[in-house]
Amino acid sequence: MDALLLKLKHRELGSDPPRYQPRDPPRYELLEKKRVIRVGRKIRGGEGAVEIGYISSPFKPYIRKLYLNPERRSLGEGKVTLVVAPKGVGKTNLTRLYTQAFYRTTRKMPIVVFQEKRGDLDFTRKEDPEKLMSMGIEPIKLPEDCQKFLIPGENYRIPLAEIEYSELMEYIGKRIGSSQGDRIIQRVWYDRKGRNRHRTLEELAEACEEVIETMEEREDANISIVRTSINRFLDLIELDRLIESSRELSFREIIDEEKINIVDLSRIGDDEERRFVVSATLRMLERNYHETPCFVALTEAHVYAPVAGNPASAKVINRIVTVLARSYGWNVFLETQSPQNLNPRVVENVDEVFIFGFTSKKKREALIRSLQMKLEDVADLFYYVCKDIGKGEGLYATINDQSTPYFVVTYLSPVG
Ligand SMILES: Nc1ncnc2c1ncn2[C@@H]1O[C@H](COP(=O)(O)OP(=O)(O)OP(=O)(O)O)[C@@H](O)[C@H]1O
Ligand SMILES: [Mg+2]
Repeated sequence: MDALLLKLKHRELGSDPPRYQPRDPPRYELLEKKRVIRVGRKIRGGEGAVEIGYISSPFKPYIRKLYLNPERRSLGEGKVTLVVAPKGVGKTNLTRLYTQAFYRTTRKMPIVVFQEKRGDLDFTRKEDPEKLMSMGIEPIKLPEDCQKFLIPGENYRIPLAEIEYSELMEYIGKRIGSSQGDRIIQRVWYDRKGRNRHRTLEELAEACEEVIETMEEREDANISIVRTSINRFLDLIELDRLIESSRELSFREIIDEEKINIVDLSRIGDDEERRFVVSATLRMLERNYHETPCFVALTEAHVYAPVAGNPASAKVINRIVTVLARSYGWNVFLETQSPQNLNPRVVENVDEVFIFGFTSKKKREALIRSLQMKLEDVADLFYYVCKDIGKGEGLYATINDQSTPYFVVTYLSPVG
């Protein structure tokens, strides 16, 4: 037991962890140049695997580098990655590491990341090269036009034609209240396949009017009340800052598959609005890129796929982690500080997990209960022995590896 405890502390393993050793500066500049030229020609990818840290076994004196190979992962089966950590311990840093790795190694894979905190993500930003070199990390640079910021309510609105009824009702349903108009709206929405496609507010108003006219022929309905409530609904849509109803807009005009698309949720305070943006965006991505592997990173995953309730965002996340990741090579990266509030069905589908820093026993137990990896034996011991866990350090487990779990140290991201 004592020997095991000793080995548990990877710092006491006696050997220095293997890290990138830059040879001399000229070679280093060359590397950087080569990359810039390649990406500058708008050809992403071709780099293969990206080193993101190293892992060591709690049971054997064994250390190896941890690589991320996006291209290989997206062939056939994708992966669902979850990172759990308290505040300020390296969740966003890992998001940056993953995102830049997908950007650098894949060609035309749609990348959509959601930013919760202002200024969290910016892939033209570089870490100080001296600092990176001192940590043994290879500095890299992404081109100036590697990213596209989508700011809901400003340069990003959800096209009316793409919105689903349940999503819409969750979002503005409360504001219109329950009324006789609801039935009409529902009918119009479910009847969108044929002539009534209402891509704009005008077409939506026409479709509603058609239904009202058929009602008028019947005696029982109070048409003026219905009309008032429909008009109120149309006004809400017209004035809504998150919905594009004045012109037709296709999702492929919004998402740039050559860039990192950053959906900036930091200016939205309301959970309902954020859920609407997340669910509509993911669903549009699913509809437009169904069979193309995509990379999606979501922070505060428990807000969108909570234990209680089943919001539209939870439904789409569930579909992504089951169907799209399993069959179409999608890669999903989820970040949370509250694993106990994350929907267990999502947790069950996690393929690899990072647990950074200290996570309380209660949270850990809730997480481990739903995870498919066997972590319980090691977790308690780990927290008992390791009192000084650094940023980006903790436990790592993957379902593809019998030797799971490991202790992990992840690197500081060179960009983002
Ligand atoms: N792997 C790492 N190695 C070294 N330093 C790191 C690492 N990860 C994070 N840091 C440092 O810790 C700081 C906080 O990290 P980060 O923003 O990723 O945490 P977070 O978990 O996302 O925090 P929050 O909960 O506030 O969003 C970073 O600015 C960075 O300097
Ligand atoms: Mg963060």
